Amino acid sequence: MPPLRHFAATFREDLEAARRRDPAARSLLEVALAYPGVHAVWTYRVAHAMWREPGLRLPARLLSQLVRALTGIEIHPGARLGRRLFIDHGMGVVIGETAEVGDDVVLFHGSTLGGKSMRHGKRHPTLGDHVVVGAGAKILGPVWIGDGVQVGANAVVIHDVPAGAIAVGVPAQIRRRSVAAPFDAEVDDPAIYI
Ligand SMILES: CC(C)(COP(=O)(O)OP(=O)(O)OC[C@H]1O[C@@H](n2cnc3c(N)ncnc32)[C@H](O)[C@@H]1OP(=O)(O)O)[C@@H](O)C(=O)NCCC(=O)NCCS
Repeated sequence: MPPLRHFAATFREDLEAARRRDPAARSLLEVALAYPGVHAVWTYRVAHAMWREPGLRLPARLLSQLVRALTGIEIHPGARLGRRLFIDHGMGVVIGETAEVGDDVVLFHGSTLGGKSMRHGKRHPTLGDHVVVGAGAKILGPVWIGDGVQVGANAVVIHDVPAGAIAVGVPAQIRRRSVAAPFDAEVDDPAIYI
């Protein structure tokens, strides 16, 4: 189990990521108290640490189900989620056991990182860094979603998506941006516009 100061630092990062990415957020206190996505990610980080300890897998699952009941966000404790994940609104988000998510990812409500088969082993998606998954989008199977990809609202993604692409529709079609955009730089560093 990581030391408490590890959790404190990671929780702080998660909080600041939510504050930075949601223009509606007015203060860190508001985010800490009123953002179910932040609560779900915080609890996931504890549940994931428990999941890695022999004998704590059942309590980890129970904790994640308790938070699902409270937030509407279901994150399996076995999933591997990166730093500064922001789940906006949150209700209806599902993240499966073998999903892997990079750093600085945003998931909107109703998005699913799900499986297509009942087989054991890797059956959920892998997302790179700086991916944005729109509201209601489903990414299904052990597909790979490259860095900086944007998945459109309500898209259903069943194939790999190359870095920097936009995936929209059902089943999702790949569209490349006409201009190479720095990954969410305007959100990470508003100073570039000054
Ligand atoms: C996919 C997305 C990222 C593209 O945004 P963008 O870079 O501004 O691109 P554009 O709006 O120029 O759209 C590019 C093309 O994809 C299409 N498109 C965009 N979003 C789409 C969607 N969700 N479903 C289907 N097609 C979509 C557009 O019609 C356009 O097609 P065209 O080139 O034939 O005209 C954005 O539309 C989106 O869906 N974001 C999710 C946001 C979200 O879930 N917000 C919830 C907030 S509560």
